[in-house]
Amino acid sequence: MIRELVQKTRSFRGFDSSYKVTESQLRDFVDCARLTASSMNIQPLKYYLAFSDEDVKTVLSLSKWAAALKDMHLPHPGKEPTAFIVICQDLSISPNTGTFQKDVGIVAQTILLAASEQGLGGCCIGNFNKDKVKEALSLPQNVEVQLILAVGRPDEKIVLVEAKKEGSTAYYRDENDVHYVPKRALEQVLLN
Ligand SMILES: Cc1cc2nc3c(=O)[nH]c(=O)nc-3n(C[C@H](O)[C@H](O)[C@H](O)COP(=O)(O)O)c2cc1C
Repeated sequence: MIRELVQKTRSFRGFDSSYKVTESQLRDFVDCARLTASSMNIQPLKYYLAFSDEDVKTVLSLSKWAAALKDMHLPHPGKEPTAFIVICQDLSISPNTGTFQKDVGIVAQTILLAASEQGLGGCCIGNFNKDKVKEALSLPQNVEVQLILAVGRPDEKIVLVEAKKEGSTAYYRDENDVHYVPKRALEQVLLN
């Protein structure tokens, strides 16, 4: 059911690093994402699949995780993802990156849902230097990196909790490394 799948589709920052995500799995996720809605149906997004040890190491080293957890460096050693999907915009199709931020969100969530359905999981990573990632992966000149998705077999516990009215929505971890994510209640998000 979609609700269950959405609930399961969390931002994972700890993975079973012995489980190698394959190119074929990543291709399947993108094959699903390419069918989604796109502003004016222009479809300017392109994808770089990082699954080789070298590419994964490169992208990992350029991505920043859980900036809100100041004293923690995630993923913990040995809990790294084994693949990334780098979502890019092809500027020769459209140079207007602002318009297509919504497309990026739609494809990102679609990929994460498809991964969840297969027992995998991931995390959107927006905290990175676009030019450094582009250079490190030798991406074509005409693309701009928009968002990175980590992919792997999740190996950590995440609990959704209800955000207190007027309270903080900051995520936090307990002493057992359980990750808590406050979500605003339905009544707090409905305007009528
Ligand atoms: C567009 C976008 C960019 C994000 N960038 C990062 C990031 O750079 N690093 C990170 O650790 N998490 C990142 N996240 C994950 C959020 O922190 C996460 O969605 C939030 O804490 C709620 O957790 P949940 O996805 O499990 O509901 C990003 C999420 C989105 C939607």
